[in-house]
Amino acid sequence: MTEGNLEIGVLNGPNLDLLGTREPGLYGDLGLDGILTALESLGGELGARITAVQSNHEGELADWIRDVGSRQDGLLVNAAAYTHTSVALRDALLAAGVPFVEVHLTNVWAREPFRHHSLLSDIAVGVVGGFGADSYLLGMRALTTHLRADT
Ligand code: DQA
Repeated sequence: MTEGNLEIGVLNGPNLDLLGTREPGLYGDLGLDGILTALESLGGELGARITAVQSNHEGELADWIRDVGSRQDGLLVNAAAYTHTSVALRDALLAAGVPFVEVHLTNVWAREPFRHHSLLSDIAVGVVGGFGADSYLLGMRALTTHLRADT
């Protein structure tokens, strides 16, 4: 049982820097900064500190998982389009060996067939999708509960 603060890494893949202006009907009006602010505030309640990254480059995300993600207690992972394509990010997450929750703003299973398959879901603790920014917050609650029960 971990009583102290948890360190939670938040990985955001390509085009999530455009949240707020990118297809707002699908992804909502809140920018990534707004999501991270909400996560930080929830972290205050749950005893968790957030360290976040966003990159449009697969190798940068793989490096972050290796260098930063591997030192966290748990990760929230929205790999965006790389969810559906990246063996490199899957392998980096396996190497890091840190429990993670896969999150998506949209319900990927209700979208185009190429979004139905994730290279990450089977190695995740769980998956949250379809609730907009709340997917991150729900994922964070579930992850911290899981980590405190597990340690
Ligand atoms: C996404 C879903 C992915 O299919 C898409 O490529 C994204 C965002 C989501 O949060 O709903 O960029 O991960």
